[in-house]
Amino acid sequence: MQRKPLIAGNWKMNSGTVSAARELATAVVESVTAPACDVLVCVPTVALHPVWDVVSGTPIHLGAQDCFWKASGAYTSQTAPVMLEDAGCTYVILGHSETRGRFGVPEPDFDETILAYFGESDATINRKAKAALGAELTPIICVGETLAERNEGKTDSVIAEQIQSTLANLSAGEVEKVVFAYEPVWAIGTGQTCDSAEANRVCGHIRSTVASLYGVGIGEVLRILYGGSMKPDNAPELLAQPNIDGGLIGGASLKAADFAAIVAAAK
Ligand code: PGA
Repeated sequence: MQRKPLIAGNWKMNSGTVSAARELATAVVESVTAPACDVLVCVPTVALHPVWDVVSGTPIHLGAQDCFWKASGAYTSQTAPVMLEDAGCTYVILGHSETRGRFGVPEPDFDETILAYFGESDATINRKAKAALGAELTPIICVGETLAERNEGKTDSVIAEQIQSTLANLSAGEVEKVVFAYEPVWAIGTGQTCDSAEANRVCGHIRSTVASLYGVGIGEVLRILYGGSMKPDNAPELLAQPNIDGGLIGGASLKAADFAAIVAAAK
């Protein structure tokens, strides 16, 4: 089964002013020409429409970093999937470890009560995924274990639980459109990459978990990305793994040349 790779940049809150975001988008458009894979930039909400102006009509797709599950209403601060679609998005990242309040590099003043502010859980991710699909957005659902969970031997069970809960009540036809990203929390922004064989093993575990719930055919077409300190030097080895269909790139997506080198490594 040939799955088209996807290289997705996650600019997080790092692209600065709207004009700086437009400059970065322009550099990406100039550096990434005729890609052999799907290419996406997920940008801060305020920069979505300005960046869409730059990328529209080019091979670069636009994505958001989160959404709400309602289409409209008294939901101060939230953004509906239909609004993202209207701003030019075709993808949305859901359940990133940072929106779950699980940081690869913990803040010095972090305390558990901060988690309530983020408030993201498998149940909210599930609602958001359903709503995003209803607005023709492709959800990129992030799953992954913390270092403590890995050291306790819980990696596979934590991920299986995240998959089952975030996909609850989705039809097979909906699940087929979802993209998963395996993002070990301990590898995000830390410079510590997951070994390629282990990343491939966990992505295979994601595939077989989805296959066991929704059928082998869906497991075969499902696109699964690896994310966590992917850079131009380690991308070729990670992207050559049979179960890794692309990357979710944080730090390296902020330099157009590095991002373009990773895109070139995805064949
Ligand atoms: P990183 O981030 O590439 O900076 O580790 C990846 C991500 O969080 O999506």
